[in-house]
Amino acid sequence: MIERTLVLFKPDAVVRRLCGEILGRFERKGLNIVKMRMLKITSDLARVHYADHVGKSFYPDLEEYITGGLSVAIVFEGEEAISVVRKMIGVTNGIEAEAGTIRGDLSMSKRQNLVHASDSNESAQREINLFFPAD
Ligand code: CMP
Repeated sequence: MIERTLVLFKPDAVVRRLCGEILGRFERKGLNIVKMRMLKITSDLARVHYADHVGKSFYPDLEEYITGGLSVAIVFEGEEAISVVRKMIGVTNGIEAEAGTIRGDLSMSKRQNLVHASDSNESAQREINLFFPAD
């Protein structure tokens, strides 16, 4: 089934100039860019986007990190895009992520893990509407 998913290139990806590297991986895989914007995520947006994590011990540091620089929000479209993208980014912790995945190849951190991607159809819908409200 053709799906859409929301991907964020987080501030560490922008600061490390890895946007092209990461975007290239998704494009070479065969995913289509449907929408794309650069933005500074506000505390309010972070609290809505990461609603499941507000209240967890790591949330204050997560909010400081995600609001601390520019991010890039992208909607990708493709066959089973949600699970394809999740496989490509690897598990949360860059140290544990498999080689060949984005986090496994490019991150050594659990928090500064370069990318976020929707984990289900429901969260993809919610996150796309959150980052591209006018559409
Ligand atoms: P992401 O996939 O965007 O979803 C939630 C984010 O919180 C995660 O990537 C990390 O950036 C961060 N995160 C998750 N778990 C931890 C943790 N235990 N310690 C620090 N940061 C975390």
